[in-house]
Amino acid sequence: MGRWNTRKRIDATPQDGQSLARTLSWPHLIAMGVGAIVGTGILTLIGIGADKAGPAVLLSFLIAGFVCACAALAYAEMAAMIPASGSAYTYSYVVMGEVFAWIIGWSLILEYSLVVSAVAVSWSGYAAPLLNSWLGAPMALMQAPHVGGIANLPALFIILAVAGLLIAGTRKSAGLTMILVAVKLSALAIFVWFALPHFNAANLEPFSPYGFARNMSSDGIERGVMAAAAIIFSAFYGFDAIATAAEETRNPKRDLAIGIMGSMLACAAIYTVIALAALGAAPFTRFANSPEPLALILREINQPGAARFLAVTAVITLPTVIMAFFYGQSRIFFVMARDGLLPHGLSKVSSSGAPVRITLFTGAVVGVIALFFPLDEIVALANAGTLVAFSAVALCMLIMRRRAPDAPRGFRTPLAWVVGPIAVAGCLYLLASLPQKTQIWFLIWNLAGVGLYLAYGRRHSLAGRPMAGRADSTRDPN
Ligand code: ALA
Repeated sequence: MGRWNTRKRIDATPQDGQSLARTLSWPHLIAMGVGAIVGTGILTLIGIGADKAGPAVLLSFLIAGFVCACAALAYAEMAAMIPASGSAYTYSYVVMGEVFAWIIGWSLILEYSLVVSAVAVSWSGYAAPLLNSWLGAPMALMQAPHVGGIANLPALFIILAVAGLLIAGTRKSAGLTMILVAVKLSALAIFVWFALPHFNAANLEPFSPYGFARNMSSDGIERGVMAAAAIIFSAFYGFDAIATAAEETRNPKRDLAIGIMGSMLACAAIYTVIALAALGAAPFTRFANSPEPLALILREINQPGAARFLAVTAVITLPTVIMAFFYGQSRIFFVMARDGLLPHGLSKVSSSGAPVRITLFTGAVVGVIALFFPLDEIVALANAGTLVAFSAVALCMLIMRRRAPDAPRGFRTPLAWVVGPIAVAGCLYLLASLPQKTQIWFLIWNLAGVGLYLAYGRRHSLAGRPMAGRADSTRDPN
């Protein structure tokens, strides 16, 4: 049994049969990053965000992006310093001890699982109209009950398809991801090409109809720039999925920092341009809450061909986001199981280096969620998990700056004592801006997590056992 404050050693190495093959380098990681970051946020949540903030959703993008960039800097530093699988979970284990690690790992499980479900639902939002018009597929079988459907079957289908790809092997998935990322970026460029000439500044008036802080509108929906930012936040993350690939990266100290910061900056620039083009091309009320807002905007400006192209491209490319988070999810499970905090059998990898059982288990759970739940609720809860994980990473970065100021770091966060606290406070403010219902569900999730830790993880933890290869630094392993 590990003590609650048991910390993992930085140089802990996995046992035989429990390590992952090193097949990735930084171009893979940047492609993985852009593949994971650009997705539902800009393709679908821009509509939900506009419904909550009006044209001021532009401000929501900027706020969420700024907080996320600060967290990304801390992530890059921690990823380069502790290049082991598990990202925020592993950093927390090394820096703050087992209980904190468990809580963060539990939050990451929520983040990665729900993002897979959310992006699958978003994928279905673009795929369903195409399947309906081309094959006559009934909409009732392609929508969740809250919009009058029975179940979102396309969302389940795409999750199972991506699970199959991941089980086939990391390297093939990463190569495919690079091609799909290029296609995705070209579709977004085409959107800007058609939408920008229709820019009308009048569409940005009134700029902020619902105010800044989260507030309850008369129709019972929580709105405001911050309420939108708390949802839009999901548009920016995904770079953290890169950090979960540390044990499969050839030169992790250099490649992780390049991958994280490179993909994050590229995406921030892309979003600003797309959001401006979208909001200028049509009044926000026209595309707010649409399941396919960018395609709808193109139709509004009489570009049905471009709209269809964008929808087809979304259908082809959104699976890269699902793949990146699915991959991250299976690795978090893998590392937590390897540490004994989850059932150990889950940490077995196949000859292709993929943890098959975890991938199948994850696919089943997130598939059921995608079948029945609405996108905004799934995203809000995913964001709650992410925001807690990000604030923990920034905190770890600050603690390590004090505890080991001279330890070698492949990457150093500039102005760490400004950037770190902004990341922590910004994430907490965004967490407070999420819908109240989400906050209650998040609390329930965490209470269940603590219960599971006390019932299982605490008793089966391998921390401190010499044979586990992950001895603690706070007590004698013998
Ligand atoms: N950043 C990812 C997306 O927008 C989660 O889909």
